[in-house]
This record gives sequence, C-alpha cells and structure tokens, in this order.
Amino acid sequence: MLKRSEGDLDLAARVDTFLEEKLLSVDPVLEGALLKSDAAGLEPIAVSPLLGAFLQILVKSTQAKRILEIGTLGGYSTIWMARALSVDGELVTIEVDPSTVGIAVQNITSAGLSDRVRVIEGLAADVLTSLIDDDTPPFDFIFVDADKMSSLQYLELCLKLSRPGTLMVFDNVVRGGRVLEVGCDDPGVMGVQKFLDHFAELGGVSVSALQTVGAKGYDGFAMVVVD
Ligand code: SAH
Ligand code: DHB
Ligand code: MG
Repeated sequence: MLKRSEGDLDLAARVDTFLEEKLLSVDPVLEGALLKSDAAGLEPIAVSPLLGAFLQILVKSTQAKRILEIGTLGGYSTIWMARALSVDGELVTIEVDPSTVGIAVQNITSAGLSDRVRVIEGLAADVLTSLIDDDTPPFDFIFVDADKMSSLQYLELCLKLSRPGTLMVFDNVVRGGRVLEVGCDDPGVMGVQKFLDHFAELGGVSVSALQTVGAKGYDGFAMVVVD
C-alpha cells in the first residue's frame, strides 16, 4: 500500500488557498458555476481554480482558436478556457450526461460564452468519431477529462483531430499515486496505465507529465504535443 502523509496534503491545500487568494481575483461567474453545479448534485471534481487558470494560460500562450474538451461537467474548466478565446474562436465540449449538459449550458450562458462554446451531448468516443467523419478542422488545444478508462482511445481519436503543434492535456493521471499500483483493478487507474504504456510505441509526439498537489489532493496531468 502507498503511504502518504495527510499533513502534507493539508499543507498543500492551505498553500493552494493562499496562492489562489494572492493570484486570482474573486470571480462571481466562476464561483456561481460551482455553486450551481453543487446545488444540482454534480460531483465536486472540477479542476481547482489555479489549474483552471493554468489551462487558460496554456490556451493564451498557444493562441488556440479551436479548443476541444472531453468531459464538461458543469462547465467550470470550459469557462476558464473559453474566456481566453477570441470572438472568432470556438470551444467544443463533450458530455454524456443529459442533466449535466443542462447545468453546463446554463453556466456557460451566464458567463456570456454561448456564442463561442458548443456543448455536444453524447458518449465521447461516438462524438469524436462523428467529428472525424465530418472532417472537422483540427483543434489547437485539447483537454481530456472524462472517463479515465478510455484515455488511450481518446488519445487515438484526438490525434485524428489534431495538427502538428496541437497541445493535449490529460487530467488525473496520478490519482494519489494509485497509478503505481501493479495489478490494480480500478478501471480508471488501469485505463491511465494503458494510456501511459502506449507512449513507448507511439512516435510523432512529445510527451511529459506533471504531478500536482493542492485543494484537490495529489494528482497530475500528462501533456502531449503533436510533432
Ligand atoms: N472538465 C470538468 C470536469 C469533468 S468531470 C471541469 O474540470 O470542470 C468528468 C465528466 O466527464 C463528467 O461530467 C462525466 O459525466 C463525463 N463523462 C464520463 N464519461 C464520459 C463519456 N464516456 N463521454 C462523455 N462524457 C463523459
Ligand atoms: C475524478 C474525476 C476527475 O476528472 C477529477 O479531476 C477528479 C476526480 C473522479 O472521477 O473521481
Ligand atoms: Mg479531472
């Protein structure tokens, strides 16, 4: 069993709050989106504010005009990313749960972003396949944050919706260190392990991963750039 100190995580959560207070301004739209998501009974698994701001920095620094997100939930990460889009940009976000889509659409509308954001309801693999079949122009930035057991399938489908230079971020690849567990029977962890194993034989991309600690515990994300 992996050992970790709860004290360390508590300290990381307090530092997260400290940094958030120093660096991010109070944002009633984003806070409202979380409150509405919570009131609707959605799981509290949106990215943390600092990670949302980090995604926004990635979108700005890559000057992405076309963003794809897999896993919308209440639209919290969506709002962070879409705010960095110019008016002629587009963010497509995919969510399987119809009532969740309803909450996300309300939050995105309240944020004044409905002209730039398209929420597509459906199973991500099906929606991605139809985007490929429809010859959808490539996306510049892709955030993958849905069911972790399908991570490898999402990588393969997203590569078909990419161009050289497309940046992909895959959330939750560390899971409190559970990614190390050999013979783990959690489908999400197994899916991430299969995804990570694939890079040994996958050419044509640059990849790295960053571990994160903070308000949401100990986790991490993988970053892939198409060469
Ligand atoms: N990106 C969001 C959090 C997403 S949570 C944020 O940070 O604010 C993961 C979401 O993926 C959930 O809403 C869940 O319903 C959705 N999801 C899970 N499996 C899916 C699938 N196969 N296709 C599409 N969405 C899926
Ligand atoms: C879970 C999913 C997420 O996308 C996340 O960021 C944290 C937790 C989950 O399913 O538990
Ligand atoms: Mg996540």
